[in-house]
Amino acid sequence: IDRYAVIGHPIGHSKSPAIHRAFAQATGQALEYDAIDSPPDAFVATVDRFRASGGRGVNVTVPFKLQACAYATDVSPAARAAGAANALKFDGQRCWAENFDGCGLVRDIRDNLGQRLRGRRVLLLGAGGATRGAILPLLEERPACLFVANRTVSKATALVAEFHAAGAPNSLQGGGYDDLGRGDRFDIVINATSASLTAEPLPLPASALHPDGLAYDMVYGKGLTPFLRQAQAAGMRQLADGIGMLVEQAAEAFAWWRGVRPATADLIRRLSTPLT
Ligand code: ATR
Repeated sequence: IDRYAVIGHPIGHSKSPAIHRAFAQATGQALEYDAIDSPPDAFVATVDRFRASGGRGVNVTVPFKLQACAYATDVSPAARAAGAANALKFDGQRCWAENFDGCGLVRDIRDNLGQRLRGRRVLLLGAGGATRGAILPLLEERPACLFVANRTVSKATALVAEFHAAGAPNSLQGGGYDDLGRGDRFDIVINATSASLTAEPLPLPASALHPDGLAYDMVYGKGLTPFLRQAQAAGMRQLADGIGMLVEQAAEAFAWWRGVRPATADLIRRLSTPLT
């Protein structure tokens, strides 16, 4: 039987086994999917052992996403731009690295939440790994503007400059929270900071947010985060957490490994927790 796994440290809380087993059942694919806790300094040995035991592919999570990129023989453009991989596929001596996080985000916003990205003003908060992975998939939708705002302004401007040097259009801009709220409002605001994990509010002016827009927090299972609360107080009507992004990136990986894309709507509904 074909074996898959998610590798991380710690790994106990991972929803990936439940998601991929549900996909396997729904699509009639015979496979095993486990969670592997790897010692932080033994990622390569853990992956090698899994391959030797018949592993066909893995998902990779904290803290191994960078190492996964370095491990692979073939790194996709998405993984290269993100500087990190969240999925590996093994094929003899070859190992392919992919990053489906940004693609999962776009699919959730566009297909599940029904928000067009093309021609809209999109605000992306944070300049870490989560933002890095989201930039190219968001730009592919051709927003009127994609503004990356970060607490440490130099990190946002450096990140944007790096993408411009690689050919990104001028619709991609970067700056600080002080730059927000003075110009036109944003239709779609995405929180890619780690602030929701520590329940910290962001210095986000209400005047930057469009009431008809969507506020999207990449974290999930945390209810109404300070960011979503801020967006709600600013009058934004559509609020979402990142559970749909998680399921959609998993569906992309499943399709990449198995050649069949599972339906996601029912599973997202089942895994969703109330935003209160
Ligand atoms: P990840 O790889 O998950 O994106 P990261 O690289 O540590 O994590 O980046 C975390 C991001 O959250 C950063 O953009 C960070 O801002 P700084 O670059 O200024 O540190 C942002 N962040 C974390 N806590 C924050 C807070 N309380 N307010 C604003 N931004 C915050």
